[in-house]
Amino acid sequence: MELLLLTFSSIIFFFFLLHALDLYRARRLPPGPAGLPIIGNLLDVGPKPHESLAKLSKKHGPLMTIRMGSITSVVASTPDAAREILQRNDESCSGCSVPDAAASLEHHNATMVWLSANGEWRTIRKALNMYLTHQHKLDTLSALRENVVNGMLDFLRDSGKQMTNVDIGKLAFAVALNMMSNTCVSQNVTSYYSDDLEWFKTAVKTILRVDGKLNLADIFPVLRPLDPQNIRRQAKAAYDWLDKVTDVFINERLKHREMKLPRFGDMLDSLLDFSADNETEFNLVQIRTLLVELFIAGTETSSNTTEWAMTELFVNPDMFSKVRKEVSTIIGKDGKFQEAKILNLPYLQAVIKETTRLHLAVPFLIPHKTENSVKLDKYIVPKNTQILVNAWAIARDPKYWDDPLSFKPERFLESEKDFKGQHFEFLPFGSGRRMCPGIPLAHRVVSLMVASLVYHYDWKLPYDKEDMDMNDTFGLTLLS
Ligand code: HEM
Repeated sequence: MELLLLTFSSIIFFFFLLHALDLYRARRLPPGPAGLPIIGNLLDVGPKPHESLAKLSKKHGPLMTIRMGSITSVVASTPDAAREILQRNDESCSGCSVPDAAASLEHHNATMVWLSANGEWRTIRKALNMYLTHQHKLDTLSALRENVVNGMLDFLRDSGKQMTNVDIGKLAFAVALNMMSNTCVSQNVTSYYSDDLEWFKTAVKTILRVDGKLNLADIFPVLRPLDPQNIRRQAKAAYDWLDKVTDVFINERLKHREMKLPRFGDMLDSLLDFSADNETEFNLVQIRTLLVELFIAGTETSSNTTEWAMTELFVNPDMFSKVRKEVSTIIGKDGKFQEAKILNLPYLQAVIKETTRLHLAVPFLIPHKTENSVKLDKYIVPKNTQILVNAWAIARDPKYWDDPLSFKPERFLESEKDFKGQHFEFLPFGSGRRMCPGIPLAHRVVSLMVASLVYHYDWKLPYDKEDMDMNDTFGLTLLS
């Protein structure tokens, strides 16, 4: 009997010990590399954080803690870890940390990407969905985007006649920008020949580069007044320029409306109607902020993806021919194709998916932040911890992708995987409530550009394909 009691109490003690150990573990942040005093892991991170953190996660685990000055970040590097954050704990992990580069702007607190996922953020996302990215709205305005493509083809015809080289990155940026502006305000904002194009590109690239850069003023907030890397000043100059240009469109439209001229029926008209009825909820500053945000979020990402898709097709001529052959099946008698038909071409779509996998435009998604203390797997992560999802590492994980470093569109032909946030090994647009709201537009813009560039012209690289630079630079988006 005594022996039985002893065994029973040992079992209870054992379970108690296990539970205590579990609680102890759960109280801790995930493991991570030991850092130096004050600067923490700053030197471990380096200029390409997506690569350095992917390497570190192999040693420290799928959820890993990184510390730099006052910032503590939890980094997710596997599909399961991403699911734990973006699906199981989506609400708790959907805050955002506003970098100093953006915090200094008077209207950062009306910018979707820097707002917490509630209140005003909900209103803006709803407006975006209703007036811009809704399938029906996009269908109604497809002719405007097809016109932009015709303009691009005219420009290419001229360049061909004059035997001048075409910078695909610059061309794709101009087309993405004009498609975005036509969808929002029914007009081109730039021409392929104008100086404005350079200004726009510089402003957008500056913002993406500095918002994503490791800024000492974020890591050590006492340095904020000094702006030691000149980041805030650069961001402000770029935002001011974009604000001014956007104000011109809004003011022109207000005059147009005052004169009771026919409506354009585009996003700007809808936003102005909405604002007239709900001025306290949505005013002119918010409209300008949203337009500027869309120019920033939607142009470089879409043009970068197009540039990478074309680059891969140039170095893989057999794939180029397959896309061309497929596109030719849907060409009308007039030599034109419609946006809607392109979205159903399996090989073209596989090329686009594979491009977004191998050349992620936004490698860490946008940094999220915990809104409250939250249990992630067996760890407890305190409120206000930065959350980074290394989508770049996840998309190259050999456990989920066969031969992950090779460009193989075929892998998507037989697969159900898409980029709508349900497959956590493939997150080019993120997942959960902060997932990219521009997917339907980006999908159309990139498909239309790649299909027309491949179908209408033969291309020749101005140098050997072995000399092609396939590297990238880190910013909020990966810049090619
Ligand atoms: C190929 C093109 C694009 C890619 C790869 C891309 C990717 C992304 C990613 C990864 C995020 C962050 C998601 C997260 O944090 O969980 C994001 C956010 C965002 N994207 Fe896109 N995007 C693209 C095009 C567009 C377009 C065309 C628009 C414009 C309609 C747009 C508007 C936005 C906005 C406003 C956000 C912030 C959403 C929020 O914080 O609630 N994007 N995008």
